[in-house]
Amino acid sequence: MRANSLSQPVTLVLFGASGDLVWRKLGPALFDLYADGWLPERWIALGVARSALDDLAFRARLLDGIQRFARRRPDGALKETFAARFFYLRGDYDDASLYTALAHRIRILDAEGNGPSHHVFYLAVPPGVTETIVAHLGEVGLVRDRDRDRVVIEKPFGHDLASARALNARLRRFLDERQIYRLDHYLGKDTVQNILALRFANAFFEPIWNRQYIDHVQITVAETVGVEHRGGYYDQTGALRDMVQSHLFQILCLIAMEPPVSLNAEEIHHKKLEVLRAIRPIPPDQVSAYAVRGQYGRGRIAAEEVPGYREEPGVDPQSNIETFVALKLFVDNWRWQGVPFYLRTGKRLPVKASEVSITFRPVPHRAFPDTAVQSWQPNRLILRLQPEEGILFRFQAKIPGPVMRLQPVDMHFLYEETFGNAPPEAYETLLLDLIRGDTTQSLEAAWVETAWAVLQPILETWAARPPENFPNYPAGTWGPPEADQLLAQDGHQWALPTILEEASPSIGGHRA
Ligand code: BG6
Repeated sequence: MRANSLSQPVTLVLFGASGDLVWRKLGPALFDLYADGWLPERWIALGVARSALDDLAFRARLLDGIQRFARRRPDGALKETFAARFFYLRGDYDDASLYTALAHRIRILDAEGNGPSHHVFYLAVPPGVTETIVAHLGEVGLVRDRDRDRVVIEKPFGHDLASARALNARLRRFLDERQIYRLDHYLGKDTVQNILALRFANAFFEPIWNRQYIDHVQITVAETVGVEHRGGYYDQTGALRDMVQSHLFQILCLIAMEPPVSLNAEEIHHKKLEVLRAIRPIPPDQVSAYAVRGQYGRGRIAAEEVPGYREEPGVDPQSNIETFVALKLFVDNWRWQGVPFYLRTGKRLPVKASEVSITFRPVPHRAFPDTAVQSWQPNRLILRLQPEEGILFRFQAKIPGPVMRLQPVDMHFLYEETFGNAPPEAYETLLLDLIRGDTTQSLEAAWVETAWAVLQPILETWAARPPENFPNYPAGTWGPPEADQLLAQDGHQWALPTILEEASPSIGGHRA
């Protein structure tokens, strides 16, 4: 085992064990942690789901996922000892007898392991069954121990402000806030965690990290995939709830927060919450000046014909759900007054890329002749969250030669080049945190509710006024034209993700 604090035995209970998340993400992440020696000596996992599986069939499904998705190549012996730690319990989530059987099983496992272990109940289930499961766990006394028992809930947490408040209130009947781990997998990404390192472990960013030097900030989370097999879920959710309320707002908070005194959970939560509280409320009658929605129609991605959203399985053929969102927000505090934060995310965009682009103000006086500055670009700091993870700093340099001519160039740091491999999967980091009981990367109730409160005027306006022009962007394009106008009205434009620039280097800067 690694030198870490995981001496406590752990029982992981995976609700939704036969589902996609366990197969694709949680099983492989646990395997990688196990293979790298991060898990405690005594741990077992109990899968719970409705599907008719037994221990052996459950293990075979897990191993299949590991074979396909794990970072580490599973070798024979390791695979066997890993799989032997998994057990399966079949049942309906609303059937009380499932929980009596679960409690009985956990008691036996604890007795065999010479004492109680930490119990982590991971709800890899659709949001609609969260409350049922937690209430049953509470009723059979499985979450009574405030220090040892915790429950993991995947986003989206609630559907709007009122439902999130109601859900939090009901969970508090059975759980303390510190027992609830609301999970946003973006917070487990190394590149997202590195925003704290970049800003607060380096002296030279902080003095310029404010309205005096920064012109505007763009956060883009673009995906090429459509809704895949999740049409049913997505058609009730949409991009604002699925991505903005969680992933994009977390990134925004890390970029905009004040320096923390320490990295402890309470301090980080507090500093992030301050950012959300400072976001200027969007007046309900001006939503269209701040928010743009889109839905993809048929189009081409990487030369392949793809169907429109309304043709996807599980989606209402008349659906008005948005698959694209662009937002303009202001953070009303001393640091950020007047600096626009532009956020956009969408499915079926031309490339998969998550990037933060920070554009600095122009120099106060340009001493260079027009002939020297034909390809002038403002300084930009670009955080490439994924893929080809790294950080780029773009600035002007003199092109070697007898005359003064300038061109933007990039200084870059790439994870793979520096550290030799791509960062671990977000779920590895998050699983380890929750086994340890570290809640720094979990979303606290107040943050979740405030995030909904910021979006509430948009949710209400959009619900009251169905879009007239959906689908309004073909798959394989950067969303509807209104998204460009949102920035153009401020004299800005969306930055092309830098991985696209590399494909056609004339678009962007050149490596320094
Ligand atoms: C999930 C969303 O939270 O994040 C999905 O529900 C989305 O719709 C996914 O595709 C994107 O995650 P990643 O890690 O691939 O950027």
